Amino acid sequence: AEPADRAIAAFARGDPVLVHDAADREGETDLIYPASAITSDAVARLRNDAGGLVCVALSDTVASAFDLPFAREIVDHPAADGDELAYGDRSSFSLTVNHRDTYTGITDDDRALTIAALGRAAAAPDDTDFAATFRVPGHVHLLRGAPGLLAERRGHTELALALAAAADCPPAAVVCEMLDDAGGALAPADAEAYAKEHDLVYVEGAALVDWLAD
Ligand code: 5RP
Ligand code: CA
Ligand code: ZN
Ligand code: ZN
Repeated sequence: AEPADRAIAAFARGDPVLVHDAADREGETDLIYPASAITSDAVARLRNDAGGLVCVALSDTVASAFDLPFAREIVDHPAADGDELAYGDRSSFSLTVNHRDTYTGITDDDRALTIAALGRAAAAPDDTDFAATFRVPGHVHLLRGAPGLLAERRGHTELALALAAAADCPPAAVVCEMLDDAGGALAPADAEAYAKEHDLVYVEGAALVDWLAD
C-alpha cells in the first residue's frame, strides 16, 4: 500500500506515525499519535526519541467548543506583535494545560494523564467541562487547527488532524518534532531509518495532501 494508506491504518490502530511537512516549510518530521492512544511509555518515547515540544493539536470545532484562543490573540505584550514565522506561516499555539489531577504536570505519567484526557474531551466536547478538567498554564501545549485543515494551512497541526479524521479518530493528536543529537531537525532520511527500525510508517506531508484530495 501507499505510505498515506499505511499511515492512516497505523494511526487508526493507535500507532505513532512520522510526518515530514515539506523541505520549503519547517523541514521537520514530527512523531504523531492519536491523543487517545497515549501512555506514559509513549510520552517517554516522545521526549527520548523525538526530543521536541510535546503538543496536542485540537480541531477548530473542538477548540471553539472549549473557547481556546490562539496564544497570540490573548497575550497583551509587545512580544506578541507580528506573528509571521521565519518560514512564512503563522503559529498554531493556543494555551498550555495540565489535567487538574496532575502533581507537577511534567512527568510521563502526568503528561499522559493530561493528553489522554484531551483525547476523551475531543471525542465528547459536549460532555466535557474543560475548565473543571484542565488548568492553565500547564505542561502540554495546545495547538489550534485551521478550520479548513489542509486547504488552509499545511503544518503538522493540520496534517495530524487530517490523519485523525481519515483514521476516524477524535480530533486530538499529539505531535512532537524529531531532533538529532546535534540539536537540529532530524534529516528526513534519518527519520525514515528510525521508522524502518521501529516498524513505523514515515510519510511526506505532500503524500497525505494528495491522498486526501483524491
Ligand atoms: C510546535 C511546533 C511544531 O512544528 C508542530 O509541528 C506544530 O506546528 P506546525 O503546525 O506549524 O507544523 O512548532 O512544537
Ligand atoms: Ca533524544
Ligand atoms: Zn511542525
Ligand atoms: Zn516545529
